Amino acid sequence: MEIPELIRTKRDGQPLTRQQIFDFIRRYTSGEIPDYQAAALLMAIYFRGLDPRETADLTEAMMHSGEVLDLSEFPAPKVDKHSTGGVGDKTSLIIAPVAAAGGLVVPMISGRGLGHTGGTLDKLEAIPGFNTRLSLADFRRVLKACGAALIGQTSELAPADRKLYALRDVTATVESIPLISASIMSKKLAEGIDALVLDVKTGSGAFMKRLADSRELARRMVELGAACGTPLQAIITDMSQPLGHAVGNALEVIECLEALKGRAPRDLMEVSRELTAQMFLLGGVETSLASARGRFDALIVSGAALETFARIVAGQGGDARITEDYSRLPAALHQESFVAWESGYVSALDAETVGRASMRLGAGREQLEAAIDPAVGLVFEKKVGDPVVHGERIAVIHANDRSRLEEARQMIRAGTRIAPEPQTPPPLILECIP
Ligand code: URA
Repeated sequence: MEIPELIRTKRDGQPLTRQQIFDFIRRYTSGEIPDYQAAALLMAIYFRGLDPRETADLTEAMMHSGEVLDLSEFPAPKVDKHSTGGVGDKTSLIIAPVAAAGGLVVPMISGRGLGHTGGTLDKLEAIPGFNTRLSLADFRRVLKACGAALIGQTSELAPADRKLYALRDVTATVESIPLISASIMSKKLAEGIDALVLDVKTGSGAFMKRLADSRELARRMVELGAACGTPLQAIITDMSQPLGHAVGNALEVIECLEALKGRAPRDLMEVSRELTAQMFLLGGVETSLASARGRFDALIVSGAALETFARIVAGQGGDARITEDYSRLPAALHQESFVAWESGYVSALDAETVGRASMRLGAGREQLEAAIDPAVGLVFEKKVGDPVVHGERIAVIHANDRSRLEEARQMIRAGTRIAPEPQTPPPLILECIP
């Protein structure tokens, strides 16, 4: 079928056949179909949607647009975690070593931060020497030695998604649940995993701001996992305020190291524990959530998770001495307090505004290829529900540029609310699907 006919079919609300979808992906990836025709099809999909069969076909076509890792040489269950992204969302650096120390193989392919949300690769690259661009051969070597490896998307795995995602980004077609589902799932399936746990964030700092949309994405992903034969457990978690205390790359690495030593903020530990416990269940190394949570705690207490993290860092070329000596991580020149302007209870720390303030300091980027400053960011000492007295510190701003520090301070002020009456913190884990 000619491409205008394909676009017309979807524009008029008719389903595309498996053959049409596979042909489109093959020809678009090879450069035969120009971006303007692909953009028109994406927009038609944005408005008309894809049914579950079309979404599964698109996922499969994108997954097979490049290499699919065969990890059958690893006898242990291969289970990964994916988050839809947020502010202070650093759980991958905790989950990967705990899950690996607990008997799973975790082939984690992660992304960079964009806009107000952070990315796992940027956090890891704050560690001196850490290489997130391993060849697939080196990726396997680290997986074999450590049980987990964390790298960026390569040109070999799901190249159709890379190309389509860049096009969606500039054609206002990112916010489509079937396109998001196929994009995430095609990359994850190309990793050669047996099962996936998905952390769907909801709230102002999330991609999906409304619970109903997060729920819909989670359901569609679970459905898609079943259609592709890969069990998927989705958990919807709060992103109305930052997760944990730290926002900014090196600062988040420190918080993760503290977590691996059992000293993390409660919310960060709870989300990390729940996601890892679900990975243990899906991987079949535990049979109840209670024992899976217990395994998570035991691996932290014994030091096994921290030791695994140090081995991953060293295996990927990084300086593993950072696990004990945080002064080896980049640090900002200026550290200034952001204090309460009145007494009361913190009632909002708007995650999106905090993410934008952190980006203003240089911790994030507007465009995918822009450089970031690994040292800068924010560390909150108060979270929603905490009492504060006038003049008490709410956060420390870490900056390398004074003018940006002042701008960030104003942004944080705009996103912070103090109420006179006690506040209940938002629920952290909202739903599990299925
Ligand atoms: N993350 C992805 O990997 N793909 C999307 O389409 C959206 C978020």
